[in-house]
Amino acid sequence: MSFFSHLEPYAGDPILGLNDAFQKDPRTDKVNLSIGIYFDDAGRIPVLDCVRQAEAQMLAESAPKSYLPIEGAAAMRSAVQQLLFGADHEVMKSGRVATLQTVGSSGGLRVGADFLRRWLPGSAIWVSDPTWDNHRAMFEGAGLTVNTYPYYDAGDAKADPPRSAGGLAFDAMLATLRTLPPKSLVLLHACCHNPTGVDLAPAQWQALVPVLRERELLAYLDLAYQGYGDGIAEDAFAVRLLAAEGLSFFVANSFSKSMSVYGERAGALSVVCVDAAEARLALGQLQATVRRNYSSPSIHAAGIVARVLGDPALRAGWEADVAAMRERILAMRRSLHAVLSARCPGRDFGYVLSQRGMFSYTGLSAAQVDRLREDFGVYLVRSGRMCLAGLSTRNVERTAVAMAAVLA
Ligand code: LMR
Repeated sequence: MSFFSHLEPYAGDPILGLNDAFQKDPRTDKVNLSIGIYFDDAGRIPVLDCVRQAEAQMLAESAPKSYLPIEGAAAMRSAVQQLLFGADHEVMKSGRVATLQTVGSSGGLRVGADFLRRWLPGSAIWVSDPTWDNHRAMFEGAGLTVNTYPYYDAGDAKADPPRSAGGLAFDAMLATLRTLPPKSLVLLHACCHNPTGVDLAPAQWQALVPVLRERELLAYLDLAYQGYGDGIAEDAFAVRLLAAEGLSFFVANSFSKSMSVYGERAGALSVVCVDAAEARLALGQLQATVRRNYSSPSIHAAGIVARVLGDPALRAGWEADVAAMRERILAMRRSLHAVLSARCPGRDFGYVLSQRGMFSYTGLSAAQVDRLREDFGVYLVRSGRMCLAGLSTRNVERTAVAMAAVLA
């Protein structure tokens, strides 16, 4: 008796599948610029010293491993709020923010999506064009209708004046958001846009606020790369602005990249409401959502994050490590730009320098990306997204030479 022969084969995930293919590639000079993971200059995923010390403390304490509450560990939730909003922010004092520790920020995004589907059932979500490959699947999986708003400016050499690729189509973005029905949901990348590396400038975030307010739109911020843009506090600019403006919004944040703890699934979901009574209701329904899903989050993830953020010495070490990771990526951007510009005179690679965070949108076609992978062992996502955190002093020249060859 067969129950499952009608199943459709899974095509695989465009990012995780590519990372798996990279691992299996026998070539020794292969370069992994596919998945959003930070590698050090030696090509290793670093274990940060602050994380090592936090784990050593936990091992020495050998505390019982009971279940965490549904909403996660109180110490971590409070540390997350201070990290996002800054110490002593009004939203914390007035109790109008509800924060849950979640299974990575993906878990937070999905819990928030399930909650919104249930409690704002008529609301659709708008995501940037393009966005992280998994956003659409995640929100559609929760039963939400997913639409897009213009975001990335692919440039126009024939325009007057000509526009080079790699900017933000901000006017078109705002124009679309102004047409949305009230209570629509708008997914925004708080920093280090994935996949383009193109962010809103502070003045553009400020210009977005009245549109959100007047059109009664609910912003859903995805903050997965905090610290990789301009700095830990700087990258929370949008979160703090929306809170200061008194808006209600969601923010899912991750420690996967900033603490280099990908597999620990350390993330959180915060909902800023109009007052404490609403925040208590939101927390309750989010707890119900979690309980029917994965029940409660990881004790180990909470221990790492709460200790690193809460202990002044560990915190200082973490901030220095984040700054060093950010600076190394910037140095790789400069090297890649220099070699590409030398190899391909007449082409504008300014986007490599202007974009922020781990990613750049190279503008390479899927066929060019395939050639890079097949002929040169250089792996990018087929959209043309490059993860610059996989570049190193050993492979940046080789990568640029391969790119120049497929561009020729
Ligand atoms: C990425 O975009 O590469 C990362 O966020 C990893 C993932 O889960 O897709």
